[in-house]
Amino acid sequence: MARQLPLVSPCSSGRQALTCRYRCGDACGHDAPNTSANLYFGDLVREQISRRGVLRAGVVLGAAAAVTSAVGSAPAAASASPASKGSFSRGPRGLEFEPVAPNTHDAVTVPRGFDQQVVMAWGDPIFRDAPAFDPRRQTAAAQLRQFGYNCDFLGLLPLRGGEYLMVVNHEYTDEQIMHPGYDPENPTREQVEIGWAAHGLSVVAVESQRRSGALKPVVGHQLNRRLHTNTPFELTGPVAGHPLVRTTADPEGRTALGTLNNCSGGLTPWGTWLTAEENFNQYFANADSVTDPVTAARLARYGVSGTETDRKWERFDDRFDLAKEPNEINRFGWIVEVDPYDPESTPKKRTALGRFKHEAAQPRLTSDGRVAVYMGDDERFDYLYKFVSDTQMRKGNSRKAREHNAQLLDSGTLYVARLTGDSPAEQIDGSGRLPRDGAFDGAGEWIPLVSGTRSHVPGMTAEEVLLFTRLAADQVGATKMDRPEDVEPSPVTGKVYVALTNNSNRGAAGAARADEANPRNANKHGHVLELTERHEDAAATRFSWNLLLVCGDPASPDTYFGGMDKRHVSPISCPDNLAFDPYGNLWISTDGNALGSHDGLFAVALHGRHRGLTQQFLTVPRGAETCGPHIDRSRVMVCVQHPGEVDGATAEAPGSTWPDGPGSIPRPGVVSVWRR
Ligand code: FEO
Ligand code: CA
Ligand code: CA
Repeated sequence: MARQLPLVSPCSSGRQALTCRYRCGDACGHDAPNTSANLYFGDLVREQISRRGVLRAGVVLGAAAAVTSAVGSAPAAASASPASKGSFSRGPRGLEFEPVAPNTHDAVTVPRGFDQQVVMAWGDPIFRDAPAFDPRRQTAAAQLRQFGYNCDFLGLLPLRGGEYLMVVNHEYTDEQIMHPGYDPENPTREQVEIGWAAHGLSVVAVESQRRSGALKPVVGHQLNRRLHTNTPFELTGPVAGHPLVRTTADPEGRTALGTLNNCSGGLTPWGTWLTAEENFNQYFANADSVTDPVTAARLARYGVSGTETDRKWERFDDRFDLAKEPNEINRFGWIVEVDPYDPESTPKKRTALGRFKHEAAQPRLTSDGRVAVYMGDDERFDYLYKFVSDTQMRKGNSRKAREHNAQLLDSGTLYVARLTGDSPAEQIDGSGRLPRDGAFDGAGEWIPLVSGTRSHVPGMTAEEVLLFTRLAADQVGATKMDRPEDVEPSPVTGKVYVALTNNSNRGAAGAARADEANPRNANKHGHVLELTERHEDAAATRFSWNLLLVCGDPASPDTYFGGMDKRHVSPISCPDNLAFDPYGNLWISTDGNALGSHDGLFAVALHGRHRGLTQQFLTVPRGAETCGPHIDRSRVMVCVQHPGEVDGATAEAPGSTWPDGPGSIPRPGVVSVWRR
């Protein structure tokens, strides 16, 4: 039976039912897939008692030295901002803007004195032969030559002479608001093929403009590229060729078609792009027909269930039907590495980094020059991971260096995190009230799961650990987290930050209760973890940690902002993607604001007396989530994902008219913002 669209979103956040359906296949409407008896942190306590590339100095946000700190003496914002109650005479560098007040405008709202531009949106041409976008006459052939849908990760890689390569993930499609006259029960082949073409990745050259942060796409640039659901990707690392990744079309198990649900990602110091396959489960039909108990348990742990899928791709390609191609699904859920500088290159699915609902992947070099990659598995009660390569990165751009670095992510050790608090368990009561030592903090360790082709998990081979990483991590006592999303090391201090979006089920009957690292039951607003590895070495297996932010309404006693006086901060809910500016401030985009206003982008100071100061920089249109983000000397960039994705919306009755205005349908797009 086809799943019906719930009338009310099952999420505790501000997410719409339409988002739940098309983005994550109603993940929150189902039980959390982690039903392992894996001890949660309170039990462990009781048991015990009995750089990505160096950023150049300089800025943008604080570049206009004459601009007064918005936190103190600047004129009041257009509408009262919580931050305007502050008393600082001058904010920290990089936060010298007047915070945007929470709002529900169907627009990208930026601070006074800033300009903005839509760099590229769904349907814009990437190649010279791309037809003009017309949503009423869209075709798959046109979509293959145009910018895809629902942009999420955003990266800028340098080219010569003020040009960049803009690399963008297209996470998923919203058929109901894309296609006029769409019948969810009977999509046409053309509509399905538009979906295949609108998923995936875009590489687009852009030119910077003088005296502004605007970027002009170079249509037809020789490096422009679209990768989509039928593009060949090579499986590399220990799982390549394994019987469980062989299919009728690919009996060798080495070439998968397409990349799906690419959420966030990261850029490597050797000039490639990592992109994360997240909610791949929702594209595969007929899990209910699987009778083998081992296979069924593996599917269940990844949230694969039911008969028909929402998009019904299985009607048009057997590989999306588990009853016909049981192994096709094992070729998704990986970290993918793309070389955007080589438009002929085949992107690689790096199986050594494990298979789960990958949110993102951010590298940092270890003290001896190897590469660590930090990764979150975005599901309630799932885990935080780190991969450390066996060999060192080679510097430079010689052919030898490039060939060496192209193998870096194929061999190493994959770890999962266990976090232990330092306060007595009875002081962590699930309310978010700080324990007596004044901090949610403690110690942690990275537990090895697999090293190269050697498994550390009893009863599982190395290949099984990598294919069914969640099941391996269940066995070693990993800490169940509140939806680990983006993980970002500071290029200034090396400390690692983890966005934990929310977890409606924390503390529910039969589910794990609050612990010091996830200290609120029914966690609606999420939190941000700060992790310091021993000797500041990314290869370390021990670390200390504390919660930088416990998000929500600053007036509420269950929130915490790094010790900052909460009268000075902006409300923030559901942290998701993370980035750093050149000053070492942490920028956070949100997804699912449960405080009643639209999602947005926030800057957080991390050091000195301003630590914890949180200011909202922008808000996004109705129904949208804020993605990207990217901050450099000249601009702040975000992806506006799924504008108009509100319940009841259709192409005929759109939930937003951003960016084209009245009478148009919404188009997800990339926005650049700069100080005027
Ligand atoms: Fe695609 Fe976890 O957000
Ligand atoms: Ca503590
Ligand atoms: Ca995300």
